[in-house]
Amino acid sequence: MDLKIGDEAPDFSANTTLGKINFHEWLGDCWGVLMSHPADFTPVCTTELGRVANLKEDFHRRNAKVLVLSVGTKPGLAPLDSHNEWIKDVDETQGATVNFPLIEDPDKKIANSYGMIHPNASDTLTVRSVFLIGPDKKVKLIISYPASTGRNFVEILRVLDSLQLTANYQVATPADWQNGEDCIVIPAVSTEDIPAKFPKGHTVVKDYLRTTPQPNI
Ligand code: BEZ
Repeated sequence: MDLKIGDEAPDFSANTTLGKINFHEWLGDCWGVLMSHPADFTPVCTTELGRVANLKEDFHRRNAKVLVLSVGTKPGLAPLDSHNEWIKDVDETQGATVNFPLIEDPDKKIANSYGMIHPNASDTLTVRSVFLIGPDKKVKLIISYPASTGRNFVEILRVLDSLQLTANYQVATPADWQNGEDCIVIPAVSTEDIPAKFPKGHTVVKDYLRTTPQPNI
């Protein structure tokens, strides 16, 4: 499936390491961070799971729930047994406590519904993708990385900050923006209307480029 930003995130029911879940119901009013991994017991993925577990408070503060899918499970083990064995290794080697669910997807139905399998990279394994999903269950961000490159989770948190800010204020965030820095007033707001909407002040750099201090802090 060719999933795009703005599409509804495909719903699914699945067995996970934390019990059966219905995805949309499980998300509730939270933001979702759905990540795919090429395989269990692989080195880069092991560091990624540990990193996400250790960022638990940062995701929690942003009202975001993490969910992981890996279809490359250990031969001879049932998918959930493979995931649970792998989690033990992650906890041991990364000084972490994995506290988010890993999904069982034996027929790759979920992986296919999200387009997590890129046949020219691998016919059988999911690539390293991340989907941010809003409380409205719409896809807000899609990034796919090569198997050889671990994700930058500071960037994922940064995008969550931007999405949550821009969902509530008529601003956008500039290149390399970090939480707390000045924002861009979106073109739909006329320059005359800026003082009433953004009382902290503003700067007109060009008529199409107006900045203001971050409005929600
Ligand atoms: C890894 O997570 O380490 C990995 C997975 C698939 C291919 C290469 C590396």
